[in-house]
Amino acid sequence: MKFFIDTADLDEIQALAATGLVDGVTTNPSLIAKHGAAMADRIADICAAVPGPVSAEVTATDIEGMLAEGRALAAIADNVAVKVPLTESGLRACKTLSNEGTKVNVTLCFSAAQAILAAKAGASFISPFVGRLDDIGQNGMELIADIVEIYEQYPDFETEILVASVRHPVHVVEAARLGADVVTVPPKILKQLFQHPLTDKGLAAFLADWAASGQAPILEQLEKKNGAD
Ligand code: G3P
Repeated sequence: MKFFIDTADLDEIQALAATGLVDGVTTNPSLIAKHGAAMADRIADICAAVPGPVSAEVTATDIEGMLAEGRALAAIADNVAVKVPLTESGLRACKTLSNEGTKVNVTLCFSAAQAILAAKAGASFISPFVGRLDDIGQNGMELIADIVEIYEQYPDFETEILVASVRHPVHVVEAARLGADVVTVPPKILKQLFQHPLTDKGLAAFLADWAASGQAPILEQLEKKNGAD
């Protein structure tokens, strides 16, 4: 499963990219607005920081506008994936841009029927928003299960399922259990995935026992041993 980070915060992206665990980045107009930088600059900087796909969303809602913005965004860097909303115009733009060789992420997906249309339109990624479905009393992960099951019936569908609107680590684990291709997580949730209190407790105990043993550090021991051999 691939991990994308869902943010436009360049410092966070650079720090998390250093872990080697980040396969791409997703942004949206709200995230870009939150971090203040000019979108064209910020997308270029993110593309330089992460080799994988970086989703940059159009804000036009008509087909001509979406195509113009999509082509301009795609020209920023080779790893831009143009993000379009799941509307009729968005899917028309998806089809055209995909035919031109641009990766397209179709966003704001809330139903299996929409996911079928996105695959037929040649989307590289479909982004179902699980958290926002949970917010209105539906089960977001059930939608992921439905899309996984449907896409499996059609091996010619090349669209990757990108689980978005992730709110907690359980969403990540469930997405993996269901076989989703990608999960996009806010930085805070990626950091939460590392954490377990028993890891911290166990490590503290190992280090305390080691310190109490009075042994020399392992590198020192090996240097001495290798010198003696
Ligand atoms: O990138 C889109 C998505 O992940 C939005 O998440 O938390 O605003 O529903 P959220």
